[in-house]
Amino acid sequence: MLLDGALPVSIDQAVQRLRDGELVAMPTETVYGLAADATSPDAVTKIFSAKGRPSNHPLIVHVADAQGVGTFAASVPPVAERLMRAFWPGPLTLILPRRPEVGASVAGEQDTIGVRCPAHPVALALLRACAEAGIAGLAAPSANRFGRVSPTTAAHVQAEFGDGLLVLDGGACAIGIESSIVDCSRAVPVLLRPGMLSREQLEAACGERLRSPDELAGPSPRASGTLESHYAPQAKVRLMSARMLQAALDVLGDAGPRIAVYARAPLRVRAPQVLLRRMPDDAADTARQLFAVLREFDAQGVQLIWVETPPEAAEWDGVRDRVQRAAAG
Ligand code: TXA
Ligand code: MG
Repeated sequence: MLLDGALPVSIDQAVQRLRDGELVAMPTETVYGLAADATSPDAVTKIFSAKGRPSNHPLIVHVADAQGVGTFAASVPPVAERLMRAFWPGPLTLILPRRPEVGASVAGEQDTIGVRCPAHPVALALLRACAEAGIAGLAAPSANRFGRVSPTTAAHVQAEFGDGLLVLDGGACAIGIESSIVDCSRAVPVLLRPGMLSREQLEAACGERLRSPDELAGPSPRASGTLESHYAPQAKVRLMSARMLQAALDVLGDAGPRIAVYARAPLRVRAPQVLLRRMPDDAADTARQLFAVLREFDAQGVQLIWVETPPEAAEWDGVRDRVQRAAAG
């Protein structure tokens, strides 16, 4: 069921479902989320089974504001305070020490919990109405089946889960790739997943350098967004430089598999079975369309997707991370 998220009556219906322990899909500025009452282990279990996600992969709790964190986090370190003040509401998830009495199923039984206050007006309206109804936070992973490309429109969500799911339509997501994740539960902050907030922006707000997971000793936290193969379309994805792409295109005959090419460089294409789509020059524009483009290629039934390797510049970190994972699938 698709409802206009801008209408208060839609928010009311969504809150009612959530109070009944059911799932609801909500738009955020990054990607659409599949939401359940974070304080209800039964409701949270439904997320894992709907997605086909292993129950030890932790979910993010979405809250209406920074105060909402207190229900779930045992403490908020100064570095997390600074990041919240700088970027919430917005595309940033913080990993914090968890209150032992709440959110064990959300956290995949870990002693930490991921929290985020999203900036999308429909998500905020829903979270505020939930808080008033006694639901302190919504556990919500991206609203796709495990391992697949995240949804950035309401239609994508319906394609994943069918019409039985209540989907609040909030239009196409403005950012288009998932939030940056910073682990603030350790002695030093760690960037677990790059997003569209650049490392420089995050470090400026932290007042210190962000470590990478591989710089730390000890067991790394489980993050399904950090599994090597993730965000994978049906077609096989390969990353190539513009020169390699052109060379590969030049030797193609007229027959053979259907190939989609997503590249910034101007390329000569002669083979009729090749579908060419231009990648924007701007990283934010590319992030906004990336997952929709991958879904379109799948819908066209291509067997191969050749993507030009994104630039090395830091603003491309999030996009580069997602296409590398898609190519590892
Ligand atoms: O932008 C986003 O973050 C979207 C929207 C819906 O908010 N959500 C999202 O959720 O991407 P999901 O479940 O697809 O990815 C959540 C990521 C996973 O990589 C998960 O492992 C990590 O957050 N995560 C959650 N809690 C964690 C924890 N306690 N420790 C380490 N990683 C955690
Ligand atoms: Mg996901």
